Amino acid sequence: ASVYDFFGAHQAGITTPVQDHLHFASFDMMARTDRDDLITLLQDWSYAAARMSQGLDVSATGAVGGSPEAPPDDTGEALGLAASGLSITFGFGPTLFENDGGDRYGIAARRPPGLEDLPAFLGDDLDPAASGGDLCIQACADDPQVAVHAIRNLSRIAFGRARLRWSQLGFGRTSRTTTAQSTPRNLFGFKDGTANILATDDAALADHVWVAASDEPAWMAGGSYLVARKIAMLIETWDRVRLSEQQSIIGRDKAQGAPLSGGDEFTEPDFEATDAAGAAAISEVSHVRLAHPEFNDGTRILRRGYNFVDGNNDLGRLDAGLFFLSYQRSPEQFVQLQRALSTDVMNEYIRHVGSGLWAVPPGAEPGSYVGAGLLA
Ligand code: HEM
Repeated sequence: ASVYDFFGAHQAGITTPVQDHLHFASFDMMARTDRDDLITLLQDWSYAAARMSQGLDVSATGAVGGSPEAPPDDTGEALGLAASGLSITFGFGPTLFENDGGDRYGIAARRPPGLEDLPAFLGDDLDPAASGGDLCIQACADDPQVAVHAIRNLSRIAFGRARLRWSQLGFGRTSRTTTAQSTPRNLFGFKDGTANILATDDAALADHVWVAASDEPAWMAGGSYLVARKIAMLIETWDRVRLSEQQSIIGRDKAQGAPLSGGDEFTEPDFEATDAAGAAAISEVSHVRLAHPEFNDGTRILRRGYNFVDGNNDLGRLDAGLFFLSYQRSPEQFVQLQRALSTDVMNEYIRHVGSGLWAVPPGAEPGSYVGAGLLA
């Protein structure tokens, strides 16, 4: 079973081999909290997160080692379960830095220049109840109970300081970050994550994912920006589309994930190739072509999303989709790609219903906490 260190130059949960399950949570700071509250919250969160990442209870007394007269420190549902590859990743939203006259946390001047609400995109249908948040936590694990235990206990630790705003469960990773992982499939039935940035690709990570020491602000060096988009997929509509049309919309074949210009899954797409009738083998409005770096000034992102099914609606349709998560050196990279996708034929089958952007600071040194560079 995998155990990933919470401490390090970068936070875990970005290049970490993508685990099978997700519990993502967004928090708002409570009214009348101050800088000390934020610092102690981040310290308490880091302490508990480091312990849980090792498969331990949130504190030394934990679920059953404390006084029988007091509620236990740890809620206990992960007792006996392994660490299950748990990673916990913290992020800071634009609203945390807001200066509403008070600058409650004394950080307004240290706000990253790009940490603004994402612009509105064509077709956005965003629900405020699934968008934004002062803070976020991404918990990924190979056992769903371990991921849920992490978010539940971190929410509990935040009591009186921050409150859960919205959260999302995800299953079935829709990406890969190592060559050892097979490419999984999303709910459209297509392989997802073929052209992702991998953990071993140091050059691509430096160019496209990690904030560099030469970027502003200095406290973000070694960090990244996280975009979350809750994307509803109209799967009953999609399921009535013929196979050839589904493939043409994506730009890859459904069996292997090979580009429609030929080859196997990992063959580079050839956008010049034509079919027997002389038409482009990979349609100009296919998802893969529109999102490809060649047509986006070399822009790339690290994708780390999950499938979700949140029950069904009154019409008997699944409330399902992709909880899209991407890490990038600058939020501009996501904006560039999402704008490029405005003519994507796939848009007929999806709706963006939730959105958030967070600055994910670098990892903490042992004994320190995530965010120390911003607040210390
Ligand atoms: C590639 C599905 C949303 C960016 C792909 C691939 C699939 C796919 C099947 C091809 C395999 C691969 O390389 O991973 C979906 C679905 C989406 C969605 C079902 C929504 C429900 C997005 C969004 C973005 C995005 C919102 C960014 C704004 C990309 C990129 C690639 C890609 C950058 C790789 C392109 C390349 O270099 O070949 N997607 N995607 N996707 N997608 Fe998406």
